[in-house]
Amino acid sequence: MASSSLEAFISQATAQTRDRSEPADCVLALAPLMLELIERATTFLEPQHYRSDANHYARNLVYDAPDASLSLYVLVWSSGQWTPVHDHGSWGVVGVLEGVLEERNYVRLSPDCGADEGIRLVRGGVILLGRGAVTSFVPNPDHIHVTGVPLERSRAVSLHLYGRMMNSFNTYDVSSGTRQRVSVKHNES
Ligand SMILES: [Fe+2]
Repeated sequence: MASSSLEAFISQATAQTRDRSEPADCVLALAPLMLELIERATTFLEPQHYRSDANHYARNLVYDAPDASLSLYVLVWSSGQWTPVHDHGSWGVVGVLEGVLEERNYVRLSPDCGADEGIRLVRGGVILLGRGAVTSFVPNPDHIHVTGVPLERSRAVSLHLYGRMMNSFNTYDVSSGTRQRVSVKHNES
């Protein structure tokens, strides 16, 4: 970590989350820090953090905590690139650095008893996150959504802080009411 802005953010985020067991308290404390961090992003982001991928959105690791309790990524979304319908298994705080990130939410109607089938999801609202915006989510019940950039808009770049290494998450098939755990290397898209 070369930048004092990033170092200060990480040390504050580490301290704030260490003292808080409730995910909702973590995001409450971290959202204002993210709001400040995105204003200073140009002081610590390097060219490799803006790597894009023609095939899907790119996830570029900025920081991962030695104890795996925090991870910070830059996501680069080219026009027309979307996530699958997914959850996170963690709290998260997201700030938008460039463009407009679109979030299409789902509402879970069936209780989560741990089963990977019989999951009833309906489409919820849409949120357009412009440059400078901060959003967050908490698990249990997890936030389920699709995130990306429509073809008609230019690319978006966003910072994502999670309360764990983001090396696995659930993706959902809305029509069949099923989900499956997807594993990814924590430092790859
Ligand atoms: Fe997400």
